[in-house]
Amino acid sequence: MSRPISKRAQAISPFHVMDILAQAKALQAQGHDIIHMEVGEPDFDTPTPIIDAGIRALQQAKTHYTPALGLPELRQAIADWYQTHYDVTVSAERIVITPGASGALLLVMGALLENGQKVMLADPGYPCNRHFARFVEGEVNAVPVTAESRYQLTAQHVTEHWDEQTSIALVASPSNPTGTVLDKTELAALSAAVKQQQGSLIVDEIYHGLTYDDFEAPTALAVDQDAFVINSFSKFFGMTGWRLGWLVVPEGFTEIMDRLAQNLYLAAPTMSQYAALAAFESDTLEILEHRRQTLQHRRDALLPALEQVGFRFAVKPQGAFYLYADCSALLNEKVPDSMALSRYLLKEAGVAVTPGLDFGNFEAEKHCRFAYTTNEERLLEAAERIGRALR
Ligand SMILES: Cc1ncc(COP(=O)(O)O)c(C=O)c1O
Repeated sequence: MSRPISKRAQAISPFHVMDILAQAKALQAQGHDIIHMEVGEPDFDTPTPIIDAGIRALQQAKTHYTPALGLPELRQAIADWYQTHYDVTVSAERIVITPGASGALLLVMGALLENGQKVMLADPGYPCNRHFARFVEGEVNAVPVTAESRYQLTAQHVTEHWDEQTSIALVASPSNPTGTVLDKTELAALSAAVKQQQGSLIVDEIYHGLTYDDFEAPTALAVDQDAFVINSFSKFFGMTGWRLGWLVVPEGFTEIMDRLAQNLYLAAPTMSQYAALAAFESDTLEILEHRRQTLQHRRDALLPALEQVGFRFAVKPQGAFYLYADCSALLNEKVPDSMALSRYLLKEAGVAVTPGLDFGNFEAEKHCRFAYTTNEERLLEAAERIGRALR
């Protein structure tokens, strides 16, 4: 018997990279060596002090639900992190522990978006955002962004593109797929422009900690205590599989988030929350700093190597672990767009990359994303193989 699938679910399209992944797997099964640069996850394992804390939690049978808002000690540790790391005061009351940034996006969109209201976001941007909006019967107001604004939404975009239905602006800094960062002045201007429209500002800070050249991404909370700020243990802290993130809400929003969390998922994973208590300890931070430096080296090696084989970069990304490459100089009749190029690179060079189409529509056919989540030697080998395949 065929059962109807909701329009809501049907509207959630699969990622184009899944196609590439399936082909990559098939090629690997035939014995081909594939270099994976499509994966948005650090190749480093979770730091040992965090794993040890997780093991201890299990040995002590910390296997029951925590409060829906999260372990009080973890909420406090995050509040302390804002104080020591950013010099920003946020009470633990305003911190909600979530199953990844994904859980935080679901909570915040569920709490703020009415049916038919729109979330303004940058195109290109993180693809799941539009799906979260759709899932709560909202829509998106996707604003094309270019290298001119370092692929970020600006106050000017907000003013020009806000319409009657738009109620939220969502930015990510550093961004996925472009790795660009908003500075304090830009965040303040953005916040003022959103306030002017009586909207809400959501800032996804999941790649915080992964910034380079002595540049630190400021938290939006430094300029706007009314912003909804999302973060996660996935990327900088290397805990993707533990499914843990957080959301900082303005005063007065804790209770509604508590109710939503209780009903949508009860609580974030308990052992992960205990493990994450070790994330802010100095021995963990030392390991993470070393990894950050490794990622910076990789970026600095890969970017010129890709330029050499014909990709172009209008801006040098200051964060995350992605290079958003303009591939227009490499396109031709046989390989007319970035999707075809991704397929070609996989087949001819054994290198998997993500086509621009996964991040939106604007100039998507001219861009692909490279994740430098593989060691430097392999990254350089990838660039060399690509060069050979394109000659
Ligand atoms: C910009 C952005 N936000 C949110 C997420 C979700 O991450 P998680 O749920 O693992 O914290 C990702 C994952 O790639 C991302 O790139």
